Amino acid sequence: MKPELGVCYYPEHWPEDMWAEDAARMVETGLTWVRIGEFAWSRMEPSPGDLQFEWLDRAIDVLGAAGLKVVLGTPTATPPRWMLDKHPDMLAVDAQGQPRKFGSRRHYCFSHQDFIEECTRIARIMGERYGRNPHVAAWQIDNEYGCHETTVSYSQPALQAFRLWLADQYGTVEVLNTAWGNVFWAMEYDSFDQIDLPNLTVTEPNPAHVLAFRRFSSDQVAVFNKAQVDVLRPLTDAPLLHNYMGRILDFDHFKVGEDLDIATWDSYPIGFLSDRLEADEAHKITFLQQGDPDLQAFHHDLYRAVGRGRWWVMEQQPGPVNWAPYNPAPLPGMVRLWSLEAVAHGAEVVSYFRWRQAPFGQEQMHAGLLTPNNAPAPALAEARQTADDLAQLGAVTQTQADVAILFDYASDWAWTTQPQGAGFNYFRLVFSAYRALRRAGLSVDLLSASETPKAGYKLLFAHGLATLDDKAEQHQSQLTVYGPRSGAITRDFQIPKARPGLSELDCEVDLVETLPPNVRREVVGGGAAQHWVDRLSGSAPDLLTYADGTPALKGENGVWYLSGFPDEALWDRVISMAAQEVGLTLHPLPAGLRRRETEQHVFLINYTSAPVSWNGREIAACDVLILKKHAPEGG
Ligand code: GAL
Repeated sequence: MKPELGVCYYPEHWPEDMWAEDAARMVETGLTWVRIGEFAWSRMEPSPGDLQFEWLDRAIDVLGAAGLKVVLGTPTATPPRWMLDKHPDMLAVDAQGQPRKFGSRRHYCFSHQDFIEECTRIARIMGERYGRNPHVAAWQIDNEYGCHETTVSYSQPALQAFRLWLADQYGTVEVLNTAWGNVFWAMEYDSFDQIDLPNLTVTEPNPAHVLAFRRFSSDQVAVFNKAQVDVLRPLTDAPLLHNYMGRILDFDHFKVGEDLDIATWDSYPIGFLSDRLEADEAHKITFLQQGDPDLQAFHHDLYRAVGRGRWWVMEQQPGPVNWAPYNPAPLPGMVRLWSLEAVAHGAEVVSYFRWRQAPFGQEQMHAGLLTPNNAPAPALAEARQTADDLAQLGAVTQTQADVAILFDYASDWAWTTQPQGAGFNYFRLVFSAYRALRRAGLSVDLLSASETPKAGYKLLFAHGLATLDDKAEQHQSQLTVYGPRSGAITRDFQIPKARPGLSELDCEVDLVETLPPNVRREVVGGGAAQHWVDRLSGSAPDLLTYADGTPALKGENGVWYLSGFPDEALWDRVISMAAQEVGLTLHPLPAGLRRRETEQHVFLINYTSAPVSWNGREIAACDVLILKKHAPEGG
């Protein structure tokens, strides 16, 4: 596969006489893809039934004639204002019972049937018009499901749909009462029609109720997406895709991904560093203009799994964004670095957001490849340089890693439903292992925990999988690491009699403790557990112990159970012990340097603002050194 570059473009924002020159400049920059259309509903249909597609016909013609391949977006993330007059109850409702109003975007509830019909109607019209257009080479459905916390809605349509969903899941209300343990606090129901949404209760609602609602809300996203897939499939042979976001866990991306051909995601490394990552101040300052060295890679690996091997970056940050608390510019070289890193993880396309900075609207402070006045912004030259790099690079092929992490959205919902300890969550736990594996120079695969088991991994992490799927147990690997909280909750949020996954290990969790963030449970020999501690017993050997003599890690027969959330030092120890156990070579890296292997290459990626030496090689600041495989890595 030969990776390519693209850009997001809004022809409706610019006079038509600029389009041809824009297209020519895109081609000059080395871009081959352009995404359009995803927010243009008010221009496609200014009033109900008044279809105005001639401008879009011309835009596609101009871009296509320049040699660009078009990704055409369905515009369903931004229904026009008239839609609300037609369907006044289509808005999502927040947990306080307030509608989330018109005036920005994503103003719809996933459960609103009439709105879904409006979406399939516009998708059908577009499919019929452009499905066989030779320039339309891919379709994006909607835009960033779940962004702006839009997955969960407490609307009347959601309530009606939830009751039907429950009846379908449980059959009878008696079964539901037992499954949820509704005898507790006399919460038993006589019929599904009495069951409300789990908001505005006096105190905490039943966690089983909340988890069921979270599962339902996630399913609604998949149903919504599939409605458009079903309409477009017969009308086009081009691949269908969606652009997911970073660290949005409110719906099961694997489920949505099953109906699509390619997973794409929107990567904003500097925005994410300040906006959605728990890290200390020093780390955030060190990487202020580069982004976290692992957060992008984590999502690349996650979406490679969601896309079953096929994935893109649909939106790549090109300069300061407008939406994070602080918005510094990337250091010179970073836009190219992010692009090449994505390629190293298997991106088929890296597409920049956006072509030209908009002089109006919410994102007028968001950089593009061009300034609002059409002058080159710093990222334009880096995109050009990346295109040249890619021409040199040739094919990039992914290989299965030796190490995998099982990832499970429902486990995140379970942790957030009953966190038990403040300031800690499933994502942090999963990500901390990923980081530690990358510090050790390893390539990592992320896998869906409910997928059919895959063979060939030496080391598998099933840590934090609170609602462990039975299938996770069947993954074959030399060593599987569970805990903390793995298998702790059934599908219906009860404590299981025995923890799944642990049949090979004589190990019980007798007690769970959570700790304030500044408290550490020291482990003998170095490192500590923080936040969460499962107190363990059983005849399985203690591989590590806490200072008070209680087990920190137990293991036998290729199964280990980790009692707490490890700090960096403890992760490093656990990973080196595990590597030794399964015969895996580690390549410990200096801070901020990362390493990714493909079939043909080793990529050395320097996220720091200074040159780094490793194995006799020097990697310049914010640079990527690409070594051909089978040549020695040492210098
Ligand atoms: C993404 C979104 C784009 C744009 C961008 C700004 O979340 O898909 O439409 O808003 O962020 O960074």
